Amino acid sequence: MHIFSTPAEMRAWSDARRATGRRIGFVPTMGALHTGHLALIADAADRTDDVVVSIFVNPLQFNEVGDFNGYPRPIDDDVAACEQAGVAAVFAPTAAAMYPTGFQTRVVPGPLGAVMEGPKRPGHFEGVLTVVVKLFGAVRPHVAVFGQKDYQQLRIITQMAADLEFGIDVVGHPIVRDPDGLAQSSRNVRLTDAERAAAVAVPRSLDAAIAAAGAGDAVADVIGAATSVIDAEDAALLEYVTVFDAITLIEFDDLADVPPMPGIARIATAVWFGDVRLIDNRDLFELSDA
Ligand code: PAF
Repeated sequence: MHIFSTPAEMRAWSDARRATGRRIGFVPTMGALHTGHLALIADAADRTDDVVVSIFVNPLQFNEVGDFNGYPRPIDDDVAACEQAGVAAVFAPTAAAMYPTGFQTRVVPGPLGAVMEGPKRPGHFEGVLTVVVKLFGAVRPHVAVFGQKDYQQLRIITQMAADLEFGIDVVGHPIVRDPDGLAQSSRNVRLTDAERAAAVAVPRSLDAAIAAAGAGDAVADVIGAATSVIDAEDAALLEYVTVFDAITLIEFDDLADVPPMPGIARIATAVWFGDVRLIDNRDLFELSDA
């Protein structure tokens, strides 16, 4: 497995692979890899010939210094996990390599960035898009796989890749969950044992909301169902829960004209446990596995 630390080295390798007809799959990450990331790598491997994983904790997308400093960085474990997963190359640049002196360009999202996480985390999506464009330029992938846990991020990146004609197939991979339903996230390791136990309230709140939507309840009651599960958990502090159009991300204030079919409406939430902020989302009218 190759390990590259500058965009130029990364691009030279990718260009050489592309020249031989190989298709490059890309999984961008901030490291602290878990089985959710391994599922993205397996998905990319199924679609392409050579998988590249980037590991870069992007300072531009953090709007809180504490969150950036506290973000886990187990680089040796991450490299070993990539090797084990059959990754062809890891791109692990330094911040100085990505943003050398004089770097000044920013990529700004459109209206998709103005809702949900956007106002809560000023500058976050601008930082995400800027680094993703830079990573795409270095890795030059045919296919890039992102997790659906960051659903708004996935929508914004998909829109950007289409708007700017990148010719990159942006794929969303379903959320990977722990057995109790908690969505896998690099931030989960920062939860105390008590907070980790309490965090199951997040997927349960979405279960409750989905049940209410399935019963034909109004949006306020769907949101109320989720809210009461979170409010019943002392360790949890609800930041928001919202029901929205899966494509435009515009909030629904009425479900009367929304067809109860998969792919139309989603529910998302952000919940604090101590200083750890967890997000999750589901299709509001997903097909049950039963
Ligand atoms: O989802 C993430 O891990 C990050 O936002 C990404 C896409 C790697 C950009 O830094």
